[in-house]
Amino acid sequence: MISPNSIDQLLNAAIIEDVVGDYVNLKRSGSRFKGNCPFHDEKTPSFTVTPTLGIYKCFGCQKGGNSIQFLMEIENLSFTESARLLAKRYSVDLVETNVGNKEEYEESQKLREGVQSINDFAIQFFADQLHTQEEGKNIALPYYRERGFTLETIKKWQLGYSPESWDAFYKAASKAGYKDEMLKSAGLIKQRDSDGSAYDLFRNRVIFPLIAVSGKVVGFAGRIMGKVENAPKYVNSPETELYKKSDFLFALYQAKNSIKKLDKVLLTEGYTDVITLHQSGIENAVASSGTALTPGQIKLIKRFTNNVTVIYDGDAAGIKASLRGIDLLLADDINVRVVPLPEGEDPDSYCKKLGPDGFKDYIQSVEKNFIFFKAELLLQFAQNDPIQKSEAIKDILQSVAFIKDTLKRTTLVKELERICDVKEEVLAQELGKLLRIGLVQDKKQLFADTKNVVNLFIDEPVVVALSDVHQEIAMIRTLLMNATKQFDENQTIFDFALTEYMADESIQFKDPFASKFMNELIKPDGTFEWPGVEYFIHHTDTEISSFVAGVFSNDHQLSPAFLDNMIYVKTEEDNYRDELISIFLNIRRTKIEEIILSEQFKLQQPEEQHDEILEYLDFLNTVKIDIANKLGNVVSRF
Ligand code: UTP
Ligand code: MN
Repeated sequence: MISPNSIDQLLNAAIIEDVVGDYVNLKRSGSRFKGNCPFHDEKTPSFTVTPTLGIYKCFGCQKGGNSIQFLMEIENLSFTESARLLAKRYSVDLVETNVGNKEEYEESQKLREGVQSINDFAIQFFADQLHTQEEGKNIALPYYRERGFTLETIKKWQLGYSPESWDAFYKAASKAGYKDEMLKSAGLIKQRDSDGSAYDLFRNRVIFPLIAVSGKVVGFAGRIMGKVENAPKYVNSPETELYKKSDFLFALYQAKNSIKKLDKVLLTEGYTDVITLHQSGIENAVASSGTALTPGQIKLIKRFTNNVTVIYDGDAAGIKASLRGIDLLLADDINVRVVPLPEGEDPDSYCKKLGPDGFKDYIQSVEKNFIFFKAELLLQFAQNDPIQKSEAIKDILQSVAFIKDTLKRTTLVKELERICDVKEEVLAQELGKLLRIGLVQDKKQLFADTKNVVNLFIDEPVVVALSDVHQEIAMIRTLLMNATKQFDENQTIFDFALTEYMADESIQFKDPFASKFMNELIKPDGTFEWPGVEYFIHHTDTEISSFVAGVFSNDHQLSPAFLDNMIYVKTEEDNYRDELISIFLNIRRTKIEEIILSEQFKLQQPEEQHDEILEYLDFLNTVKIDIANKLGNVVSRF
């Protein structure tokens, strides 16, 4: 255990805005800093850092704490690990006293620390082999030099060399006291099947250390020096306690300041691409390590910027294959641009060919919006074949559909009219179809997720005296008055309302008449169609016709409290769009409140799992706050 005194000392020494600033683009705002929360998705900053108190707090997801807690949260560290990391950074000596018992926790702790310690040893070993041993100096240094890496670059990236031997590293590590088990956990040695003897993973290769965004070395990549014939070009560390391939971006640690400053990241494929670009003064480049982008990598990028420029190697097939991965970026609200390279070139080779300034100019002049890039590429493949062309256009629109911002989509479609030589209206109509499919699927997934959590805890739902009826009536009124008006460029008010209604089972109306009304709109096969106002007023079922008449004549008075919360509606007559959104949000909010009440009730029962309930309540509160934010209301109001 670390002594409380040392913790005080450490927290006084740590500069919270620097600790957080490594992960979040902070902007000063009075005596505080603000930025986009790294723990949840958001567009408007609700994450604040208060230097005078040494704390951070997100008003969106409610996470908050001091510097140690921030590192624990963002790096997935234990308290001790996080405190040690900070202590190193701020040169504070921690006084640690030993307390046993928490065995399991200590076990995984030990493993992580063991692997880290071996990696720290290994990075030094490989560097020594390069700089101080004849073999490294004679074979590896010339290789690096031939590739154009300066000594400064070699030092900066802590590049190294693994000698041509089966066990040079193994011997050195054993001598230094590292146990076989731990060396295997670190992935640096392997075992022969035949006799169980150990041998090095990296042999006769130049070594590129893999540094996590925290600055810690988490693994290694070794490149073969000669021609690639019978052996793979690169050997990489396996996944370990510290290294998860899908959560790693090469060079993010070295690039993060530049990325923040320029508010833009250059995404390449290879280690050598990145190193050459940095050496040429282009320091906002990272590499995805030759694989398709993963959600984990995108999350990393989003901590620093929303602008990604992809520079992949210049072979058409490769680029075509990587298009899908890029859609993920679009779905995450990232602005994606592409820099195509001439056939056969990669950023490394082309930057060397053009020189630093030439390459920068090149990026500037050819960089283009990903959607246009994709459109031109696919249409070029389709040539003049009409079937292939329509397939290509669908594919392009599929990408456009990933973009959440309506305005961006509309602008893109306008431009695509020219590129695809297809009328804007036709494109918009096709896009509308894709969007609706996506919408329904998203909502279904969302509900499926929530339902599972709910089922976990509620055997018999407590009936709570909160009513959705006002919202239900308000929605039907909106439908009766505005069903055929446009909700946006792709759908009518009726389409939007029914899609939402159908996608989320929790919206099933409670008022029996309102529910009956909704059922009239949905055909047995699940499709829906607006039958017109007269259909209802003239309905032979008097329950329906009188209900509708009542709604029209304002028979159902809206409660003042409800009107109070309908901040969008107020007086403006043509605000039916916002009104509808607000209605759905209110319905969801009521739903969440019901669940919260029933969970709180369960907290009073001694036999319940209180920890789980509290955690669940935490989650429900974040959902509630999210809805509240969307409604533009202050939380205190409810
Ligand atoms: P490249 O083949 O383009 O390698 O693979 P490179 O980094 O440009 O290397 P040079 O310039 O030819 O020396 C791109 C990335 O794919 C991963 C590596 O991360 C590499 O940087 N890769 C490639 C592997 O992991 N293993 C391989 O065998 C090949
Ligand atoms: Mn390459």
